[in-house]
Amino acid sequence: MEDLRDKVAVITGGGSGIGLAIARAFAAQGGRVVLADIDDAALAQAAATLIASGAEVLTVHTDVSVLAEVEALAVAAGERFGHVDLVVNNAGVIAWNSVSRLTIEDWRWVVGVNLWGVIHGVHVFLPIFEAQGTPAHFVNVSSVGGVLAETPFMATYGATKSAVVGLSLALDSELRLGGSPIGVSILCPSNTASTYVIDAERNRPADAPVVARAHGVDQLVAAVRDVVDHGQPVGVLAARVLDAVKANRLWVFPHPDSQPMIQARLDLLGSVVAEAGAQTIDGNAAPSS
Ligand SMILES: NC(=O)c1ccc[n+]([C@@H]2O[C@H](COP(=O)([O-])OP(=O)(O)OC[C@H]3O[C@@H](n4cnc5c(N)ncnc54)[C@H](O)[C@@H]3O)[C@@H](O)[C@H]2O)c1
Repeated sequence: MEDLRDKVAVITGGGSGIGLAIARAFAAQGGRVVLADIDDAALAQAAATLIASGAEVLTVHTDVSVLAEVEALAVAAGERFGHVDLVVNNAGVIAWNSVSRLTIEDWRWVVGVNLWGVIHGVHVFLPIFEAQGTPAHFVNVSSVGGVLAETPFMATYGATKSAVVGLSLALDSELRLGGSPIGVSILCPSNTASTYVIDAERNRPADAPVVARAHGVDQLVAAVRDVVDHGQPVGVLAARVLDAVKANRLWVFPHPDSQPMIQARLDLLGSVVAEAGAQTIDGNAAPSS
């Protein structure tokens, strides 16, 4: 999809942060946007600024963890614009706590948004893309934390963001096998300024009670907030995402600061596998397969 003019993007979590920045960048290149979010005030404000800049915008109140709401989103987008070319499965939250303190409601909330939200987005829009038969693209938002997933007190996040990687890799392989015109990008941001997933508790469902945080969680959140506030400008990230869509790139690591962390993980895994191959079992050489 080289030219975004008159293309239609559905962006979940489009009322704030990364989703809103992608919407702005997409509209600036002549695209039309459908913003889906659970936060009506954020949706209204985001739409007002986009419309003021001349963009065509539809807002749809959507909880991505509810299949029927994502189905209704697709219907609304189709009725307004007639087609959808890009789906950015971006809505994301985190419940900060130790694994020992996380409640089942914490897990249900974060898995519902971060994993079921992406599953719903793919499940609902893939048949629409296939029926259209024209070039189309999914951007599934994971995180550097979805690839490394080792930070304490972020288990809900790492588990779900890793799962988004798994879903997206298999989807991409299947689409390439079939010679499909549908592309997939896995977006793995790291610290991005003017974004607010760190404050995801503002969207905590009423039926998920707040429990006291484990020792050290507040300090970690404060440290993360500091690096996020000094992170990559969100507009730079959005420009890189649209470049990746146009070039049909699978992996998108928009911030160069993630390179040493990813390289260190690859080196570690490589050496662990090499050591395993050299180990003996009960004094005998390990079987080669
Ligand atoms: N900000 C970063 O530095 C960073 C780093 C790595 C990954 N990410 C990922 O990028 C995505 C966007 O993060 P952000 O920082 O821009 O967040 P944000 O909080 O600024 O925006 C997320 C939006 O999602 C909406 N949302 C929450 N629950 C929802 C639901 N159930 N249904 C629909 N919308 C819902 C919120 O109302 C909000 O408008 C997330 O998936 C996040 O995990 C962000």
